[in-house]
Amino acid sequence: CPLKDALLTVLSEPAADTGDKVTVVGVGMVGMACAFSILSQGISSDVCLVDVMEDKLKVKFSPNTIILVVSNPVDILTYVAWKLSGLPKHRIIGSGTNLDTSRFRFLLSQKLGVAPSSVHGWIIGEHGDSSVAVWSGVNVAGVNLRELNPAIGTDKDPENWKQIHQDVIRAAYDVIKLKGYTSWAVGLSVASLTSSILKNSNNVHAVSTYIKGEQGLEFEVFLSLPAVLGSNGVTHIVKQQLTPSERCALKFSSALMAEVQSGINM
Ligand code: 2OP
Repeated sequence: CPLKDALLTVLSEPAADTGDKVTVVGVGMVGMACAFSILSQGISSDVCLVDVMEDKLKVKFSPNTIILVVSNPVDILTYVAWKLSGLPKHRIIGSGTNLDTSRFRFLLSQKLGVAPSSVHGWIIGEHGDSSVAVWSGVNVAGVNLRELNPAIGTDKDPENWKQIHQDVIRAAYDVIKLKGYTSWAVGLSVASLTSSILKNSNNVHAVSTYIKGEQGLEFEVFLSLPAVLGSNGVTHIVKQQLTPSERCALKFSSALMAEVQSGINM
């Protein structure tokens, strides 16, 4: 156009795309919170919003895509997405307990008076009622809290730290009771996962991933474990040193998922 020609001298053609395209499928409260968080933090400048796109999920369109499932029940829907998409396991990720882990660190931080980013603890397993708090690994600056209070996280603990895990599980219910749905926290959580993927940062996040063979688990299900995230999706799963009771709780979580999945026709 003449005005543009008068304004600009062309030196080269601009690149066709930014190489960091994010497509948000579903533009309800959660989808919009994800898109807003991703855009406002500058994680991607190429966010596409769509609501129904059955055909575009087929691999032939984007064989190198990574699908990040956020809808609940997220672990089950991540499995369904894996089955339907035909994508390799490491390219199908569920937002899982990344958010529960943030809630856990926040609540621990409140009780300790230390910033959440300085409190290290993980929630793994189901994003839901059977999630597992890895109390054996909770630490501040490498000081393991269980070494200071051997009963931490158990029913025998007079300080009742276990309540924090109950509060993590209740958090979503509380927000839903108050405003009808949750959106902003999961949006921020998804933005942080998106950032690790697009920036190939190899950050470790608790995300829903294919867990058969990990931690002695036998079912073909998706559950959260600490996973290294980069531009290829999940590249590694951290082999946490779980206690027998933590392993047992994780096994219970996986059996629940397997039971639900057995009722799905695909
Ligand atoms: C949340 O945890 C409900 O998954 C949603 O906020």
